[in-house]
Amino acid sequence: MIFYFSATGNSRFVAKVLADHCQDELVCLNDYLKNQSKGEFSSEKPYVLVAPVYAWKIPVRVQDFLAKAGFSGSRKWYVVVTMGGSSGAAASACQTLLEQRGMEFLGFQDIRMPDNFLIADRMLEKSQAIEKIRASLPLIRQTAERISKGEHLPSKEESAKDRLLSGMVNWGFNHFMSKICSFTVSEQCVRCGRCVQDCPTGNIRLTDTGISFGDQCMFCLGCINQCPTHAIDCKGKGAQNGRYTCPPDEEILSER
Ligand SMILES: Cc1cc2nc3c(=O)[nH]c(=O)nc-3n(C[C@H](O)[C@H](O)[C@H](O)COP(=O)(O)O)c2cc1C
Repeated sequence: MIFYFSATGNSRFVAKVLADHCQDELVCLNDYLKNQSKGEFSSEKPYVLVAPVYAWKIPVRVQDFLAKAGFSGSRKWYVVVTMGGSSGAAASACQTLLEQRGMEFLGFQDIRMPDNFLIADRMLEKSQAIEKIRASLPLIRQTAERISKGEHLPSKEESAKDRLLSGMVNWGFNHFMSKICSFTVSEQCVRCGRCVQDCPTGNIRLTDTGISFGDQCMFCLGCINQCPTHAIDCKGKGAQNGRYTCPPDEEILSER
């Protein structure tokens, strides 16, 4: 069973390639996270989690899913993350979490994908994004092959810097980021409701004049990246750095 969480489509794309190759069931966690239900899952094949890296760890809500949901059948787990540049010590954090639940950790693979963190970085144009994803396809397929054979994924060295990033820096990010960086909505909002529907924490509501945000933001930036009218922003960073969504599968996978 292949679980994925994805705000802008990269992790969904990777999970889909893995599922197609491994002929395994694909389970989207976005609505599951929104409802915060405990969930009971059963699979005889190893479980696979695919998620983005947020501040050098998997998102807190996805960690909660691993810690709380019920998993019967297989005790084996793989973790595959998508990232813009570095996963820090996310691998050992996932291993610890799963082993605390008595699971067997079969390894971790980080996959370079286009960055969607528009607060700090310039977003790639669509053609550049397609090139970047295509460059990662051999590793995605190799990972799928290893998973389908039940092999361990290669282990990853973690430096002191990695541990600092996934430790203190991640803690700071989780505690302060959504407080420091509040989102704004311009008059371009047409109240289409897409952000309300897509927000993985159910944090956005329609109001008489537009939308409003609650206090449950997990800072996935899905709303800013995907707003059809570019009405949502954070300190003007979307206007400055552009917005990102993963290009359609067919365009990535089409023959050149
Ligand atoms: C809040 C946030 C934090 C991020 N932190 C990291 C990071 O620490 N390292 C990294 O390489 N990429 C980081 N990224 C980039 C994403 O991990 C990357 O673009 C990912 O593929 C997005 O996956 P998705 O499209 O499935 O949501 C971050 C993105 C966001 C929104």
